[in-house]
Amino acid sequence: MTVPTKPLPGGDELPTIGFGTWELEGETARESVETALEAGYTHIDTAEGYMNEAEIGEVIADYDRDDLFLTSKVLPKNLHYGDVIASCEESLERLGTDYLDLYLIHWPNPAISLRETLDAMATLHEEGLVRNVGVSNFSAYQLSAAQHVADVPIAVNQIEFHPWLQRPDLVEYCRETDTVVEAAAPLARTDVFEDEVVQELADEYDKSPAQIVLRWAIDRDVVVLPRSTTPDHIRANADLFDWELSEADRRRLDQRDRNQPVYDFPARDWNDDVWGIPQ
Ligand SMILES: NC(=O)c1ccc[n+]([C@@H]2O[C@H](COP(=O)([O-])OP(=O)(O)OC[C@H]3O[C@@H](n4cnc5c(N)ncnc54)[C@H](OP(=O)(O)O)[C@@H]3O)[C@@H](O)[C@H]2O)c1
Repeated sequence: MTVPTKPLPGGDELPTIGFGTWELEGETARESVETALEAGYTHIDTAEGYMNEAEIGEVIADYDRDDLFLTSKVLPKNLHYGDVIASCEESLERLGTDYLDLYLIHWPNPAISLRETLDAMATLHEEGLVRNVGVSNFSAYQLSAAQHVADVPIAVNQIEFHPWLQRPDLVEYCRETDTVVEAAAPLARTDVFEDEVVQELADEYDKSPAQIVLRWAIDRDVVVLPRSTTPDHIRANADLFDWELSEADRRRLDQRDRNQPVYDFPARDWNDDVWGIPQ
């Protein structure tokens, strides 16, 4: 399988499909990541919050590190300068590697200075611990502030994106500023399989609803990160590059936007431990 890539500001190439690992823990994480690597995925998306970096580390130990693109993320409670450095070092230790290809601020945290967080990210970048820096779940407002204060390019914004949540203004802002958009929850956690146009196109192209949705996102210049524990799904989800949707059918999917998230809801539960914000 040859996966197309997108260039990042530092010259690295980001594979347009990565394996999502949220909620995969223990043996399930090991087996799923192993299946993904055997199927030809070279890009893995994890986070300190996913509690699976050690398992991923065990699996990738058998692979040539240079052939892999590894992303991890720092939790929003760990965005003070020293905490970012410590979180990154701990992720590297668990993953058994001496660098990350991409390190993301998992969520913006309004209680901690963005400048301080990005100063730490710049230090990690300077020291070679992270090759590229990015953000996740940032609005255009937050991303533009990050770009303003950062000493390193913000290479990526990983956001919820699928046919039912297309976020045209945010995606356009990312495009204008050369920030690659990565789709978190690109399958809307299966919700979007119910969409009637997705189902019609799946029948017409003899593909699964998942394949239709992933191919559409890639054609919209968005990197996809599908998660699966089912070996047949893992393999099929990466089988996207020897067929294509017509422009008319892409436009039919463009028209399915409902502004309907599966996880990025407007308000947050600030009591959740990931924020570390006492009342
Ligand atoms: N930055 C963030 O805050 C953030 C937030 C959300 C997600 N993410 C990243 O994005 C990744 C993907 O998002 P997600 O895990 O939320 O959900 P998702 O990839 O949109 O959906 C996963 C669900 O789809 C099913 N599925 C996968 N392929 C399928 C297929 N071919 N046919 C039928 N069902 C299929 C899976 O079940 P099976 O296991 O049975 O296949 C699973 O239930 C995450 O794992 C994570 O890496 C990041």
